Amino acid sequence: MHLLVFPSEKAAAAALARQIADRLKAKPDLVLGLPTGRTPIPLYRELVALHRCGEADFSRAATFNLDEFVGVGPEHPGSYRHFMQQHLFAHINLPPERIGFMNGLAANADAECARYEGTIRDAGGIDVMLLGIGTNGHIGFNEPARELQARSHRVTLHGTTRRANASLFGNDPSRVPLAALSMGMATILDAREIVLLAMGKSKARCVERVVSGPLTTRVPASFLQLHRRVALVLDRPAASSLSS
Ligand code: F6R
Repeated sequence: MHLLVFPSEKAAAAALARQIADRLKAKPDLVLGLPTGRTPIPLYRELVALHRCGEADFSRAATFNLDEFVGVGPEHPGSYRHFMQQHLFAHINLPPERIGFMNGLAANADAECARYEGTIRDAGGIDVMLLGIGTNGHIGFNEPARELQARSHRVTLHGTTRRANASLFGNDPSRVPLAALSMGMATILDAREIVLLAMGKSKARCVERVVSGPLTTRVPASFLQLHRRVALVLDRPAASSLSS
């Protein structure tokens, strides 16, 4: 794993945004996998800034988000689709038809997940998969469990994860949907390159387990150790449990 430790969250976001802009120049039809959550917000802000000054052109790019809540539509203010619109998509020139998302209102979750896997395949696979990480080691909505799912699937959310998402639902964890659709571990590991972002002291312990711990379904992100091309983009507090 390639570890990149930055003095601040902003510095990390700026450096990563610059790298993505450079990738877009080298491969205008870049396929990106994207997370939601608090962590990528500074990165999205930097990408928007680079787009505004003509440094990042998304006109031929495509994106696939990691996950979506079950029971909410794209217009719902708590949906991840809405989050992405607000923080990134509304401010860049990514054509709407190149935005890949799971439909939280789909009547048949299995069929929706199979459709999503197909659209990722049809796009030629994901070039760069950006990830955040939960304090419990989850990536996407692949929660710690005795078994992990390989492909996109419906997940029952943990209480910690529902609490962590309460801000999207009026700060009321009981309003956070009980389930979500998520890319599976193999879908994530199929990406040609993975960049995991973790910021702040609360992520230090799980970062340490991802880097140095055993492969275990109890820390889904530990499976990133199996990938040939993974970078961890950290600030100093998130890196503070790693031995130097
Ligand atoms: C959301 C996702 C999640 C988050 C994780 C960290 O699309 O993939 O795995 O990355 O819950 O969330 P934050 O960034 O809010 O700490």
